[in-house]
Amino acid sequence: MATTTHLRVPYVDLGAQYTGIKQEVLDRIGALLDSGAFIMGEELATFEKSFAELCGTKYAIGVANGTDALFLSLMALGIGKDDEVITAPNSYLASGSSIALAGATPVFADVLDDMNLDPEAVRKSITPKTKAIIAVHLTGRPARMDELLAVAQEHGLKVVEDCAQAIGATLNGQHVGSFGTTGCFSLHPLKNLAAAGDGGVITTNDAAVHAHLMKARNHGMRDRDHSAFFSYNSRLDNLQAAVLNVKLRELSRWTERRRVIAAMYQRGLSGVGDLLVPNDANGERAVYHTFIIQTAKRDALKSFLEGLGIDTKIHYPVPIHLQEAAAYLGYKRGDFPVTEKQCETILSLPVFAELSDEQVKHVIASITEFYRTN
Ligand SMILES: Cc1ncc(COP(=O)(O)O)c(C=O)c1O
Repeated sequence: MATTTHLRVPYVDLGAQYTGIKQEVLDRIGALLDSGAFIMGEELATFEKSFAELCGTKYAIGVANGTDALFLSLMALGIGKDDEVITAPNSYLASGSSIALAGATPVFADVLDDMNLDPEAVRKSITPKTKAIIAVHLTGRPARMDELLAVAQEHGLKVVEDCAQAIGATLNGQHVGSFGTTGCFSLHPLKNLAAAGDGGVITTNDAAVHAHLMKARNHGMRDRDHSAFFSYNSRLDNLQAAVLNVKLRELSRWTERRRVIAAMYQRGLSGVGDLLVPNDANGERAVYHTFIIQTAKRDALKSFLEGLGIDTKIHYPVPIHLQEAAAYLGYKRGDFPVTEKQCETILSLPVFAELSDEQVKHVIASITEFYRTN
């Protein structure tokens, strides 16, 4: 099949999503501007209630962003100086930086083909100083929570979930964000559920952790005039919550469409060239925040697609342990072979809900054509 060269495929199109909900968003924002209730209002309380329901947790706490969700969680668990926390080196920076921001030491363990933590590698990284694991559900695919929770239990470790890319994903029917002591979500504009700016949420079933976090996000305030401990200003704006309340109702439809697109890619690309194509496995229901293929010909494929008007990304080209920011930790190239190889082979294909079938077919046909001659 020849590829249609006129068809452009952007990596994302935030405007296309907005078009469908524009009037309702504008009405809600307008009402809020009239009321002047910008901080800690009803929209936020409504959003927190709906979010907890979605994740099957008792509580959800809105915060300023996903990074704060992670580091406030670690602090709520009493993690700090002299403690080590294990996480994945192929994740977004914040999975590692949040550990350092809490005053503890980030320790990395390698991942598996599915780009999520290898529970055996985690086990081998445990020292007497290890206090917690941040299990990242990278790409929107649930990490191996059964095994990670078992390792944590064996060694008396806490588990915090980094769900920034995985809202709505389930493992054996259970939502991410409900396995660990806390689940940490980002509502960054590029996430599956996105604010009109920055935002984050923490989920938990633990009443004491919830009570702590409700204060920790707001100067330690236990009421209007009294602070129990010095803390941060990390609130989720009521205005953002208003936008999110509209979008939350659409989320399952958008997720379904992402899954349909992923299924088209899976059918169309499995067995093509040397491609490793992600799949739902072992009770996983992924939400495909990214659809990442792996190939030894990544750079050539990326340029080829670019030439046909198809935009792709790399999430992420430099692993956390090799960032300048992490130099003080003493890691070197070769420490995490799977992660480092993936940095050379991963390619994120467009997978946003508003893509047309025609665009997805164009991507598949173009990739197939690339392998005919390469
Ligand atoms: C896996 C992961 N963790 C944490 C974060 C941090 O979230 P935020 O950008 O909202 O601080 C992100 C998002 O960028 C992410 O993708």
